[in-house]
Amino acid sequence: MTEIQSHKQSHKQSHTPAEVVIQPRNRQHDLAAALKRDWMRNDVFATAWFNAMSITFPLGEQFFINSVRHYRDRITDPKLQEEMRQFFSQEAVHLREHRRYNEKLCELRGYDLEKLEGPLRRRMAWVRKNVPAREQLAGTAAVEHLTAVLAEKALGDAGIFADAEPAMRDLWQWHSVEEMEHKAVAFDVYRAIGGTEKMRRAAMRRSTLFLTWDILHGVRHILKCDGMLWSPKIWLSGVRFLFGKQGILRGTWAPYKAFFDQDFHPWQEDTSELIAQWELQQ
Ligand SMILES: [Fe+2]
Ligand SMILES: [Fe+2]
Repeated sequence: MTEIQSHKQSHKQSHTPAEVVIQPRNRQHDLAAALKRDWMRNDVFATAWFNAMSITFPLGEQFFINSVRHYRDRITDPKLQEEMRQFFSQEAVHLREHRRYNEKLCELRGYDLEKLEGPLRRRMAWVRKNVPAREQLAGTAAVEHLTAVLAEKALGDAGIFADAEPAMRDLWQWHSVEEMEHKAVAFDVYRAIGGTEKMRRAAMRRSTLFLTWDILHGVRHILKCDGMLWSPKIWLSGVRFLFGKQGILRGTWAPYKAFFDQDFHPWQEDTSELIAQWELQQ
């Protein structure tokens, strides 16, 4: 083995802290009773918002898996290789559970799954065909950061799910914990393959716009089916739910913006304590 080869093989590419173990928990959730109702605080908009987020997950998570898997032969650090495997398993279970969630939701409440998912499916197909693999991975690293910021909020702020139906709280907090565990995997792979800072910043700008658009598209369809699309009261409650004192986006601006810093890394924000606290409650 030459010196260069040996250096390459021992190069550290994973920057997830050693004490964080990415572990898939193969959970199954029975959500039917909760999904019939406005399960989030009995609030029409808040429930529509989370349901619309769930709609984006199966297609989104399949895209994340594909974009990371594309580079599996380029990764030489055994720790990152193992983390990639666990990342694939976690996302595959999330994808399965959210697909069941979405199908049940549409069946129970009369929403049209094809209308909800169609635009995202067509865009993903276009991206897979036309966007370079490296840029797709940058997009995954960006959305994984958005997810991690929301996951931190979901676990760190006890108030968010306090009045949610317990079955739904279990699902969202379980998903949040696993998102937190693997929050740096796509990022570390992106860095290992030489992805630039400029490209990942551009990917974040685009991803923020698209994800917001996708969720609002879902909210719009859901409120329309529920006969509430033109209710000013509902949209006002939505503004409060997002930006109010207890709003779910409150306090997320600084961690979101950190992604644009030179030399940012997802684990510069150590959230391992939140994972440990959740484990204790199980
Ligand atoms: Fe996930
Ligand atoms: Fe993820």
